[in-house]
Amino acid sequence: MAADLTGRVAVVTGASRGIGLAAATALHAAGGTVVLTARTGEAAAAAAASVGPRALGIGAHVADADAARACIDRVLAEFGRIDVLVNNAGTNPAHGPVLRQDHARFAKTMEVNLWAPILWTRLAVDAWMGAHGGAVVNTASTGGLAVAHDIGVYNVSKAALIHLTRQLAIELAPAVRVNAVAPGVVRTRLSEALWREQPGPVTDRTPLGRLGEPADVGTAIAFLASPDASWITGETIVVDGGQTIGSGAAAERLSVRA
Ligand SMILES: NC(=O)c1ccc[n+]([C@@H]2O[C@H](COP(=O)([O-])OP(=O)(O)OC[C@H]3O[C@@H](n4cnc5c(N)ncnc54)[C@H](OP(=O)(O)O)[C@@H]3O)[C@@H](O)[C@H]2O)c1
Repeated sequence: MAADLTGRVAVVTGASRGIGLAAATALHAAGGTVVLTARTGEAAAAAAASVGPRALGIGAHVADADAARACIDRVLAEFGRIDVLVNNAGTNPAHGPVLRQDHARFAKTMEVNLWAPILWTRLAVDAWMGAHGGAVVNTASTGGLAVAHDIGVYNVSKAALIHLTRQLAIELAPAVRVNAVAPGVVRTRLSEALWREQPGPVTDRTPLGRLGEPADVGTAIAFLASPDASWITGETIVVDGGQTIGSGAAAERLSVRA
């Protein structure tokens, strides 16, 4: 049975494109009313228009506390509730070895990827979820589960987000469930450098043999947000076509093909 979110209201941060837009689309398809955020109101509104009739776009830099509060206040004023929060907006400005990053890039990564989920969750809990229940889904990354060269600061932020998911799950239970998805390489603007010119190296180490598409992750987010996941909390679902488990399986598949 598909996730049913009829009558529920969901907020998805960073939803003008990519995984956030796919999550908003899946939540809307499940019957929910969806609020999509992005840094500009124009981008958020355009994305909302593409999702459907029960979608609203609001501009809010995810780490701007005043903008976040204004967004949550507006959601409550317009829809009277907030049942689902998807902390999806993420950034990766710090490339290269961790010891060579400046403080500004480190701080921006942590502010957007780690602090913002705390900020938005607090606002949603205080405004509605603490008293009425709800579900939070964080977009982490398989980078939070394994080390890799060149994206160390980003991966540290996502590892911390996975742990934050567990921490908030116990702090907010039983009213609010808190879970995460950990996508592998998905075809979006953020990961473009990994697949635009040569998708081969990624697909070759993916047992399921293709790049991820935003909808692969969006449907997992909608599941975790829905009553179908009502006994799941503190969990991180890996959505990666087997990339994390799978170089051996991928190699075998290649040799079978050869
Ligand atoms: N793609 C992958 O392979 C992959 C893998 C693992 C995890 N992830 C995670 O998935 C999440 C979504 O990334 P994506 O791949 O879908 O990237 P994307 O296509 O570049 O989308 C990023 C979204 O976040 C918004 N955004 C960026 N900075 C923001 C900010 N400061 N405040 C509010 N919104 C902001 C962007 O909107 P505007 O530019 O319009 O503001 C856009 O809607 C991120 O948390 C990322 O770390 C991605």
